[in-house]
Amino acid sequence: MNPLKNHEFLEKNSVILLIAIIITVLIGGIIEIVPLFRQETVIEPVEGMRPYTPLELAGYNIYLREGCYNCHSQQIRALRDEVTRYGHYSLAAESMYDHPFQWGSKRTGPDLARVGGKYSDDWHVAHMQDPRAVVPESIMPTYSHLMKRGAKLHDLGNHLKALRVVGVPYTDDMIENAEKDALRQALGETRTDISGLKERYGEKVQARDFDKQPQLVSEMDAMIAYLQVLGTMVDFDATKGVDPGALK
Ligand code: HEC
Repeated sequence: MNPLKNHEFLEKNSVILLIAIIITVLIGGIIEIVPLFRQETVIEPVEGMRPYTPLELAGYNIYLREGCYNCHSQQIRALRDEVTRYGHYSLAAESMYDHPFQWGSKRTGPDLARVGGKYSDDWHVAHMQDPRAVVPESIMPTYSHLMKRGAKLHDLGNHLKALRVVGVPYTDDMIENAEKDALRQALGETRTDISGLKERYGEKVQARDFDKQPQLVSEMDAMIAYLQVLGTMVDFDATKGVDPGALK
């Protein structure tokens, strides 16, 4: 049988040709796209990455609500100038627990992917209350209201639960203790027992009164807890030599 004969049949029947094209494209599409829905096939796991603590997550939620992403990206590209300015380029795994991710599309302000540990808590408080007090030429808006508003902690368990549905590995223990863990992290070691929090989220968890207002767990506490953890989970000293900024 001449295979070209069959092709002639297709070429002369436009509707059948159209259907055949659609089926062919669909098969190609399924083969290419479906594996990407399985996160583990596209993201290489990296040591140190953990889901956000409830307080950090509360900060992340405020970050979204306030639209910080309109001016700040969280993705350091593998380009020499970026690596020199911000540190090791971002790994896919570093945003695997962000739903939605905060890579951003525009930088009016600097990238924040590794801002954790760059400044003191006091600096962040001063900066968010009045950016121009610390950076005179800044055009960042003031966020002093974060200082006065209590952080919403009672529904954090539900936030954790929802994130678990989309693949963030929160355990039942973490969900059950969400509200208390948030409180414990904002109170800090000096005022409460944080051993459970550390057990659930690791020894490196930073727990303290971030905004120095002992009478209130404010939105500022949550925001600073979040900012201070950004980019600090993965230990890049262990991967030294991979950093293109370090190459001569
Ligand atoms: C209108 C744009 C804009 C928005 C919105 C904005 N920022 Fe900024 N941000 C800037 C600019 C510009 C700078 C650089 C000058 C400065 O440090 O104030 C900056 C700097 C920063 C820095 C210091 C970064 C560094 O490495 O020096 C942090 C932290 C920060 N912003 C956090 C936030 C947070 C959190 C929010 C949301 C609550 C936010 N920003 C919203 C424009 C913005």
